[in-house]
Amino acid sequence: MELTRTSDLWWKTAVVYCLDPETYQDSGGDGHGDFRGLAQRIDHLATLGVTCVWLMPFFPSPDRDDGYDVTDFYGVDPRLGTLGDFVEFVRTARDRGIRVISDLVVNHTSDQHPWFQQARSSRDNPYHDWYVWRDEPPPDAAKGIVFPDQETSLWEYDQGSGQYYLHRFYKYQPDLNVANPAVRDEIARVMSFWMQLGLSGFRVDAVPFLLETQGQADAANLPDPHDYLADLRAFMARRNGEAVLLGEVNLPYPDTLRFFGNADGVGDELTMCFDFIGMQRMYLSLARQDAAPLAEALRQRPKPPRDGHWATFVRNHDELTLDKLTDGERQEVFDAFGPEPDMQLYGRGLRRRLPTMLGGDMRRIRMVYSLLFSLPGTPVLFYGEEIGMAEDLRAEGRLAVRTPMQWTPGPNGGFSTADPADLPGPIPDGQYGPQRVNVASQRRDRDSLLHWMRLLIERYRECPELAWGDYRVLDTGSASVLAHRCDMDGTVIAVHNLADRSDTVELTLAGLDGCCVLTDLLVGGQTKVSDDGTVHLSLEPYGCRWLRATHPDAAT
Ligand code: NOJ
Repeated sequence: MELTRTSDLWWKTAVVYCLDPETYQDSGGDGHGDFRGLAQRIDHLATLGVTCVWLMPFFPSPDRDDGYDVTDFYGVDPRLGTLGDFVEFVRTARDRGIRVISDLVVNHTSDQHPWFQQARSSRDNPYHDWYVWRDEPPPDAAKGIVFPDQETSLWEYDQGSGQYYLHRFYKYQPDLNVANPAVRDEIARVMSFWMQLGLSGFRVDAVPFLLETQGQADAANLPDPHDYLADLRAFMARRNGEAVLLGEVNLPYPDTLRFFGNADGVGDELTMCFDFIGMQRMYLSLARQDAAPLAEALRQRPKPPRDGHWATFVRNHDELTLDKLTDGERQEVFDAFGPEPDMQLYGRGLRRRLPTMLGGDMRRIRMVYSLLFSLPGTPVLFYGEEIGMAEDLRAEGRLAVRTPMQWTPGPNGGFSTADPADLPGPIPDGQYGPQRVNVASQRRDRDSLLHWMRLLIERYRECPELAWGDYRVLDTGSASVLAHRCDMDGTVIAVHNLADRSDTVELTLAGLDGCCVLTDLLVGGQTKVSDDGTVHLSLEPYGCRWLRATHPDAAT
């Protein structure tokens, strides 16, 4: 496939990298990461092959939900820098060919936001209708609580207004009323502001909750919320044609598909949706050393509209949610990867990173990232994954996986010169601490995970078939081996062994059009496909291979 076709719909072959400026690099020695520090680290991202940085919330905030409780949508948290520092970072990233998107957290605000302060002051205040109120909570007020360790209801009584307000998440995060045209206008203004300052789109927080109008007493009379999402997308495209909406939608596949929108089969709502189902099935496959759950998800996963794309990930900043597995399946993953109660969260997830879950087995860790970059979908990395950082269970709740970036073996892992007590969180020690796991050492070590990640990203970018092609899960005859092929003016095949023993599989490859030589892309070597289309491929324990079908004369 010709690479020139990939540049307009850049997100389909992007490498997204999520980070929180607060935990990335402190330039001022006050213990907080900041935009100036982040800008200084841009070449780490560029050499890794990142093409798009996703910034976690960096807005002024009381920081009770790590910045997801915003008090000013038009500002930068002063601890992280200024608007000027933000713009300098975006420009520097651009210079390295990296786009920047940020979280758009507009399902709710902080209860300290001036809008909410006004809203609660009286029922007649113009901001009152910016939030969702009821005189009495509905009978099912506890249904759908997201943080069951801290909340018992979605509705909280407010003294000022004498009413209850809706909060999907914590009670200090009142939900905005997106049915109110003034709120819609303001959200558009917020997006426009940041795009004007250089952003190429947004990771939209909690999309189904943002759109939901069920809390409203007059829900039946409100317009279809998907029309609103389409309006928002159209507005964004008018302001910046290349901008994307990457949505957090953790629902079964058919429900998630609706969030891409469907006008003319092109897609007019979210540009990308995270594949939460595929991610959860992957962990079940890893736990069982059986490819079937993941293969089944790949077969069931609906094709997005033409310009839409799935976004794939191994870990993110939240708990590793396993909420879409059955109780029994979830327990299997808990038993395999997080058996201690302290590793588990909300009864549905794990507050761990991958390397510890896999017992530090580098063969297995490498294989999982090979899956990430070869399965169809835009890969999204969470900072520190590229060097195999671990969690620190001493940190509270989900913060266990949000510890400072580990740059060097030196004090505070090179993140900050401040007193450790002033850092945003603990720094792991022992096997996964900065002395053993850091960027500086891995840069010099060709066998490091960092080099493996660079190789995977390089090959992924060279194989647009993986993103653009039609994919098929192939029959391997082995329960623990997953093989898939992607075709689009060329064929790329990836084979992954999920088990701790070597294996040889026989694949039948029809329609190769004379391209009967398979060239290994991760290591050297070639394998001939026999005239009847069969080929035998051997795999090491937890081994992986990427193969391009080539014409015998063209094979290199
Ligand atoms: C989803 C985010 O991923 C999570 O970190 C946050 O706590 C909630 N939304 C509330 O904003």
